[in-house]
Amino acid sequence: MFKIIHAQFLAPGIKRFVIHAPRIARKQKPGQFVILRIHEEGERIPITIENSDPERGTINIVVQSAGKTTNLLNSLNTGDHILDVVGPLGKPSEIKNYGTVVIIGGGVGTAMAYPTAAALKREGNRVLSIVGARSKELMILESEMRAVSDALMITTDDGSYADKGFVTDKLRQLIQNGTRIDLVVAVGPIVMMKAVAEMTRKENIHTVVSLNPIMIDGTGMCGGCRVQIDGKSEFACVDGPEFDAHKVNFEVLVQRNAMYRDAEQRSMAEFKARQESEQACVAQGEQR
Ligand SMILES: Cc1cc2nc3c(=O)[nH]c(=O)nc-3n(C[C@H](O)[C@H](O)[C@H](O)COP(=O)(O)OP(=O)(O)OC[C@H]3O[C@@H](n4cnc5c(N)ncnc54)[C@H](O)[C@@H]3O)c2cc1C
Ligand code: FES
Repeated sequence: MFKIIHAQFLAPGIKRFVIHAPRIARKQKPGQFVILRIHEEGERIPITIENSDPERGTINIVVQSAGKTTNLLNSLNTGDHILDVVGPLGKPSEIKNYGTVVIIGGGVGTAMAYPTAAALKREGNRVLSIVGARSKELMILESEMRAVSDALMITTDDGSYADKGFVTDKLRQLIQNGTRIDLVVAVGPIVMMKAVAEMTRKENIHTVVSLNPIMIDGTGMCGGCRVQIDGKSEFACVDGPEFDAHKVNFEVLVQRNAMYRDAEQRSMAEFKARQESEQACVAQGEQR
């Protein structure tokens, strides 16, 4: 069992957990993730390690409520336990001095991009970060990103904070202004990563994306996370999750991620119904 040392919402539906996991904290490198299971019957879900503290023996994760398991996880609090946390998994980000790097985080992808941004900054790169969210209340890790960036650009889809628009608008501006860019790292929704890849392909800028296919075992055995890279099958859990954006077949990724949509929607509806009936029982008990 892995104890939650601290849990706090960063934004509606987005929660950061500090988990006691000393072995993982000692080994973790930027870009790696854990697979966790909340209870015996629970499904395994992959979550990126946002930060770790080897001395305290803790790792941080940031979780966005997407379906049944992430909702259940985000209902846990300080002092609760998670049954299994396996990791660190996946290949670490390739950290070296590239020169000027642009880090792009979309939504909860900002939490996944943060450790890579911090490591690239420590390595002496000039780090220009672009973070985007749907609206002001969903913007996360602004001060953390600012601390590891030479410049931070912010966009919101609805213009409720900073500049209205998409992260790709800022990337386009940098390119049009003639900013020298040696590497782009983009983490976020598939549609965002694909748009970044299309933009940088034309400019011949090396670009890395972190892919989020369905994962089950995380060890290269089940084939669940198969992605198509340069026309060949690779397993994101052991060969990635980071890949050369210009070689990724995003259409296949979208199709494979949609394969279980009906089952996911059913299981979320059952979860919500159970939660509502539990809340109704509690309310009835309080009235008596
Ligand atoms: C390497 C990696 C790192 C990730 N890091 C983070 C992170 O730091 N924070 C975060 O909030 N989310 C992260 N995710 C996404 C997260 O794993 C999914 O949101 C979660 O599994 C959804 O489970 P659910 O039961 O709540 O939702 P469901 O209703 O089951 O699914 C909602 C959507 O989540 C995706 N998904 C479902 N099951 C899985 C699975 N087993 N593996 C991967 N994706 C799945 C599918 O696209 C699906 O459409 C990461 C995914 C990958 C592959
Ligand atoms: S999750 Fe099973 S092979 Fe990658």
